[in-house]
Amino acid sequence: MRIIRTVAEMQQYSEEHRKAGRRVAVIPTMGYLHEGHASLIQQARKNADIAVTTLFVNKLQFGANEDFSRYPRDFVRDCTIAEEAGSDALFAPENGEMYTETFSTVITVRGISDKFEGAFRRGHFDGVATIVAKLFGAVRPHEAYFGQKDYQQTLVIRRMTADLNLGVNIIVCPTLREADGLAMSSRNVYLAPEERGKASVLHRALQTASLLVQSGEIRRQEINFSMLEVLRTVGELQIDYACAAQADTLEEPEVFEETEPIVFLIAARLGAARLIDNEVWQAVK
Ligand code: PAJ
Repeated sequence: MRIIRTVAEMQQYSEEHRKAGRRVAVIPTMGYLHEGHASLIQQARKNADIAVTTLFVNKLQFGANEDFSRYPRDFVRDCTIAEEAGSDALFAPENGEMYTETFSTVITVRGISDKFEGAFRRGHFDGVATIVAKLFGAVRPHEAYFGQKDYQQTLVIRRMTADLNLGVNIIVCPTLREADGLAMSSRNVYLAPEERGKASVLHRALQTASLLVQSGEIRRQEINFSMLEVLRTVGELQIDYACAAQADTLEEPEVFEETEPIVFLIAARLGAARLIDNEVWQAVK
């Protein structure tokens, strides 16, 4: 696997493959890779000819009081995981390579960025949209792979890619989970052992909401209440939100249409970890 540190080298590497008629895929990550990341790389490798994993802990998407400085890092292990999953190249630029002293551009995707994660993490999606646009500029991919785990992020990136005519095909892959249902995340290392056992409550709440909607409930408050009831069984959990919304727009009508896809979104803090998870319900056609 080729390790690339500069934008110029990255663009040249991609250009050579594009000229040879190969399809280039990018898998953006912040490292500390786990099986969820590996599944994106494997899928990219299946669909495209060249898989470029990017590793960059993007300061711009962290709030002032968030975990940027203590975000887990393990470059050697990341290289092994990326390579074993089938990555052809790993683009791992230094901070100064991405954010030069004169860097002045920020991308804001209005509307879809404002609620849920955007409301609890002000400026977060500006940071995400800006770095993803920069990574697209460096890698010049035909397609890009993202996890459903960060549901709102996928909507923000889809919107930005369409609005700016970036010409990158966005592919969203399913969330990989631990045996008890906890969504895999680099941040799960923040959970103390006694918290780890309780963290699967998010998934149980999402399943409860899915079953309720499956049984015919389409009133938003009732669905939200069903999730809160499950989440409250873990006293230490501090809930940021547990909400049902229209899957495409994140709008929150009082009553959903019977056939429209609904997303259940949860964010909650448990000890030092902030956990997010989601599930999409879709009527069987
Ligand atoms: P990071 O949290 O490292 O995640 C990188 C990609 O892996 C994202 O698309 C995320 O949704 C996906 N992912 C994380 N956990 C997953 C799981 N359990 N199953 C499947 N996919 C999973 O998301 C980011 O980094 C950053 O915001 C980034 C897009 C790289 C921009 O900095």
